[in-house]
Amino acid sequence: MKIGIVGLGVVGLVTGAVLADQGHEIVGVDIDQNKVKGLQCNRSPIYEPGLDELLQKNKERFTFTTDYSMLKEADVVFITVATPTVEGKNYIGYVLDAAKAMKPYLKRDTIVVVKSTVVPGTSRKVKQIVEREVVSNPEFLREGNAVVDTAKPDRIVIGSDNKASGDMIENLWSFTKSTVLRTSIEEAEMIKYAANSFLATKISFINEIANLCEVIPNCDVNTIAKAIGLDKRIAPYFLNAGLGYGGSCFPKDTLAFVSFARELGEELKIIEATIKVNEERPKRAVKIMKELLGGLNSKTVCILGIAFKPNTDDTRESVGLKIAKLLSDEGANVLAYDPKAKTSLVKMVGSKEECVKVADGVIIATEWEEFRGIEQMLQDKAVLDGRRVLDPNKMSRKKFRAIGLYRGD
Ligand code: UDX
Repeated sequence: MKIGIVGLGVVGLVTGAVLADQGHEIVGVDIDQNKVKGLQCNRSPIYEPGLDELLQKNKERFTFTTDYSMLKEADVVFITVATPTVEGKNYIGYVLDAAKAMKPYLKRDTIVVVKSTVVPGTSRKVKQIVEREVVSNPEFLREGNAVVDTAKPDRIVIGSDNKASGDMIENLWSFTKSTVLRTSIEEAEMIKYAANSFLATKISFINEIANLCEVIPNCDVNTIAKAIGLDKRIAPYFLNAGLGYGGSCFPKDTLAFVSFARELGEELKIIEATIKVNEERPKRAVKIMKELLGGLNSKTVCILGIAFKPNTDDTRESVGLKIAKLLSDEGANVLAYDPKAKTSLVKMVGSKEECVKVADGVIIATEWEEFRGIEQMLQDKAVLDGRRVLDPNKMSRKKFRAIGLYRGD
């Protein structure tokens, strides 16, 4: 098939690369000239395991352009542009702009697939603009695992008005052999928000249990999480207590979902609480460090990890950066180290050793593999293990705190 992908971020690039690998011919469109130029010269704008190899392998089948007229032969066009949360709301302007820009070039029977995360009702607006069949096919990929998640997702959701167009998209993904759910367009849009909000809620839930464990002797949240996770109805995933969720999806989707509901006169009380609990995590980390150091003014604090999670260079809504800002506001000197991520928002150093050496306090904000087993290096520092990567038995209890572990007397 000839397939168009509009919006070459993580979702667009990975979707295009995986479909190219199935033998389809892909035209990727993006309005960012630099990004397109880079891709034309085999430079991927993001770090995503396996993506470069897949792009390289399929480079004859995946072309990049800023020109929407290149979509003129496409049988299917995926919209994968960004849908940021602006003033607490899901901003669908880029989706609608993309629909308007492609419309003049589409064939009569081109199917337009909305993959961007959009509030219910948006794909129908796209349908009015493009005057073609529209299918909602949300993605559930995790950054750092995007290629695998796209090639073998837990399930595929296809929302359509028209059976034939839904069948065509179902067929396109049949190589994944994943469970397919056929739904209405609005249900498909809603599933994405409900799924992300539920996962975020699991995280905030266990983080509240972690807070309580910190004041109960002999309690460790990891034991609690493991035990409750063995109940099949609860399941063991997304119960890692820590400094909270970040990234490009959970923070923005939960906020947008809440305001979407409000506009319809409904309150999503549990999700509102989830957001509140998450917003308190960085503040709690700073409070703990302040207690450990007896004040923050003029103290040097090293943050290990500013990527919002391991195996990505993405710092969007990163807890490490939020903590850095709060620490600076309190007069601390902040240094950070991350194996992949870069930023100009905090002073970065080239290695964890360099970062720790000059620090009074250390906060582990991302559970990168290379932060495991570094207990020795941290011996005489105040340490907050915000992601539970250290062995508490190897730390001196006086200056050590870990999320969800009894903090001692
Ligand atoms: C998420 C969803 O998993 C994905 O299905 C959706 O399409 C997009 O959003 P992603 O943002 O890439 O994917 O990251 P994910 O691995 O889900 O982690 C999100 C955040 O939650 C990270 O900051 C992570 O550190 C945090 N997290 C995750 C926890 O704090 N505890 C956990 O147990 C799991």
